[in-house]
Amino acid sequence: MASSSFHAPTLVSILVLLLGNSRAQLTPDFYEDSCPDLLNIVQAQVEIAVQNEKRMGASLLRLFFHDCFVNGCDGSILLDDTPTLIGEKNAAPNANSVRGFEVIDVIKAAVEEACPGVVSCADILAITAKDSVVQLGGPDWEVKLGRRDAMTASQAAANSSIPPPTSNLDQLISKYAAQGLSAQDMVALSGAHTIGQARCTTFRNHIYQETNIDSFFANTRKPNCPGTPGQGDNNLAPLDIQTPTLFDNSYFVNLVAMKGLLHSDQELFNGGSTDAIVQNYSQNPDAFIQDFITAMIKMGDINPLTGSDGEIRTNCRLVN
Ligand code: HEM
Ligand SMILES: *[C@@H]1O[C@H](CO)[C@@H](O)[C@H](O)[C@H]1NC(C)=O
Ligand SMILES: *[C@@H]1O[C@H](CO)[C@@H](O)[C@H](O)[C@H]1NC(C)=O
Repeated sequence: MASSSFHAPTLVSILVLLLGNSRAQLTPDFYEDSCPDLLNIVQAQVEIAVQNEKRMGASLLRLFFHDCFVNGCDGSILLDDTPTLIGEKNAAPNANSVRGFEVIDVIKAAVEEACPGVVSCADILAITAKDSVVQLGGPDWEVKLGRRDAMTASQAAANSSIPPPTSNLDQLISKYAAQGLSAQDMVALSGAHTIGQARCTTFRNHIYQETNIDSFFANTRKPNCPGTPGQGDNNLAPLDIQTPTLFDNSYFVNLVAMKGLLHSDQELFNGGSTDAIVQNYSQNPDAFIQDFITAMIKMGDINPLTGSDGEIRTNCRLVN
């Protein structure tokens, strides 16, 4: 009797230890004692930034994606290049494309003032992404926290892990599978393209050369995106032609109408295995929102640094 009541808890605690060592331990109340006002501080700053420029909400959401897909959600995308560190900002998917770093600086400064040395840049990105969705009329959810910041970055991993807009469906599915995300997660997360802008160079080939596109829609995009490479490369167009600053399901309505802006967008509804998911989200906004939240939480769980790994950066651009 004495020995069995001793052994059972021991076994349980060994299991807990094993699981605890191999699995991330993120939790929404991680900063409850150490920085109780954190969520209000971040939310207030995101509100100001998105009021100043609605597109910033899209840019901040994308930053979190481009952080998480490169060796996990560890704030590595925020590191500037230095003589001793090659950052990710000039990697192919990011150069002349990702934005919002100044807003993250402002948020980090506000957080440091309230709780110096406590909150990671990686967690600030996670909260900021969620608040950006909220500011543009999307859903709210509990963000899991407790990530720490990387002390290195990887330009090579940024080049290879983030899918380019030339990807076909199989390539998209396998890039997400490599991160532990399903095809359904991939489609739901792609709904982020209900907000924000893309440069002509990322969709020129799709509007001029491809046939799986509504021709009226393609023609609408051509005046501001000349067919000659090198001309107007940086001219912008909304990823969602209908409501580019509203977080809704119209991205999927567009795909069903063959009005995806990027080649990779239209791949999700092009006669392949994800057509039914796109169809569902186009008709059922609640299904999209529910799956988007699930997938954002899963993406936020990719390979975080926890415990005593990494550090809490003072300046998100620099290793301490
Ligand atoms: C499925 C694979 C994806 C591909 C191939 C892709 C590709 C792109 C491209 C090419 C752009 C335009 C970049 C530019 O013109 O410089 C863009 C913009 C954007 N992407 Fe994605 N993306 C993908 C998934 C995602 C995910 C998962 C999210 C977030 C959860 C996301 C959020 C955004 C946002 C919000 C913008 C607009 C940013 C702004 O206006 O600053 N994308 N994406
Ligand atoms: C990443 O891609 C950029 C742009 O194409 C290239 O200049 C750079 O050398 C690549 N970096 C690595 C480490 O592969
Ligand atoms: C639509 O998506 C929701 C959420 O994933 C799912 O519960 C539902 O079964 C789907 N409906 C169809 C018709 O596929």
